[in-house]
Amino acid sequence: VASANRIHNVADARRLARRSLPRVVFDYVDGAAEDELTMVENERAFQEVRFRPRMAVTTRQPTVDTTVVSTALSMPLFLAPAGLVGLLHPDGAAGVARAAKRAGIVSILSTVAGVAPEDLASHPGPRWFQLYAADRTAAEELMLRAAASGFDGLVVTVDTPELGKRERDIRNGMARSLQLDARSVVRLGPQVAVRPLWAIRMLRTSLDTMRRTQTPGGVARNDDTSSAPPRSSSIASPSEVAAAKLASPFTWEDIAWVRQHWSGPLLIKGVLSGDDANRAADAGADAVIVSNHGGRQLDGAPATLRVLPEVVSAAGDRIEILVDGGVRRGGDIVKAVALGARAVLIGRPYLYALAAAGEEGIDRLLEVFRVDMARTMALMGCHSVSELDRSWLQSPPF
Ligand SMILES: Cc1cc2nc3c(=O)[nH]c(=O)nc-3n(C[C@H](O)[C@H](O)[C@H](O)COP(=O)(O)O)c2cc1C
Repeated sequence: VASANRIHNVADARRLARRSLPRVVFDYVDGAAEDELTMVENERAFQEVRFRPRMAVTTRQPTVDTTVVSTALSMPLFLAPAGLVGLLHPDGAAGVARAAKRAGIVSILSTVAGVAPEDLASHPGPRWFQLYAADRTAAEELMLRAAASGFDGLVVTVDTPELGKRERDIRNGMARSLQLDARSVVRLGPQVAVRPLWAIRMLRTSLDTMRRTQTPGGVARNDDTSSAPPRSSSIASPSEVAAAKLASPFTWEDIAWVRQHWSGPLLIKGVLSGDDANRAADAGADAVIVSNHGGRQLDGAPATLRVLPEVVSAAGDRIEILVDGGVRRGGDIVKAVALGARAVLIGRPYLYALAAAGEEGIDRLLEVFRVDMARTMALMGCHSVSELDRSWLQSPPF
């Protein structure tokens, strides 16, 4: 709790995460592909946009709630899908889902989060699932399991035909094996030794998990199928090599096929042009997420905020448009919505908060985002999310 109260912005959460995680784990979250140009650009693009406030308008408190693909949200913010969340804190993916629910928003469970959709089946919804699948057979199985577990939204990530070159992970030996098994703990001994609190927490969780899975009548499930997410465990996680095998070589035809098999909201994540947004609309998607995977895939891809206007003008009247990458302030949400996004997603910010203080860290961070967004709008003289458009920004924005 003490750590959570020390989070006043994303930079605070990042600093606390850096202090609590072994470097190999911190770098996995914090890093990006190659020279990390795209990651840096994502944040810079937000910093360049300037508001055009209206003064002496009113003192009424702004409202920040909204609706995205028929889902009511307390603010236009999602928690982005992320692999291996269990490595950051024992609260893991379940803690992420609980914090999102408490804040009135939605978290998206990654195929490679480290927990199976069944593990979140008893959590209050709405629940959204992010799909990586090597082929239609694997995709169909995962979709059936997600639907049976009460997931209503499906996010198909299309920017991962193979894994980006994350040089920090390669140097740290993380790319070889993202699995923190006994052998890698020995190999990473020195890094882990200087983060004893993390090590103790993780050890305790993995012992609990072992005890639970050894209990007769405990969660027993056949996880042998290569496409199945691993059973719930914070330490035994899939290697990202395996994740790369799961990575979606999906074509727009496959997306149209997914549409026929999924009745809830369908979102396509990783689009960076108006053309691709129209292809997603042709395939029957409800929304696209303008994303470069936080700069973790194609280094040299454009900042997402810079291509958002092109995507909005090409396809904004056909489908809803979301954006992620580089959102670090409540005011950044205002900028994205003013440029035509229905909502944003955050990745690293909530992962830092989770590492820093567990799910209470995420509670705190989301409160900071909500309060900062409302204050920004009050200072601009804007009353509600639905009022936000380009007229609230200096033009041209970049
Ligand atoms: C540690 C980590 C793991 C991620 N894993 C996934 C994943 O499994 N699936 C996916 O679609 N995106 C994944 N992403 C990308 C995020 O969903 C999101 O697009 C990105 O983090 C947004 O940028 P930001 O971190 O600057 O907010 C991951 C990102 C991070 C930082």
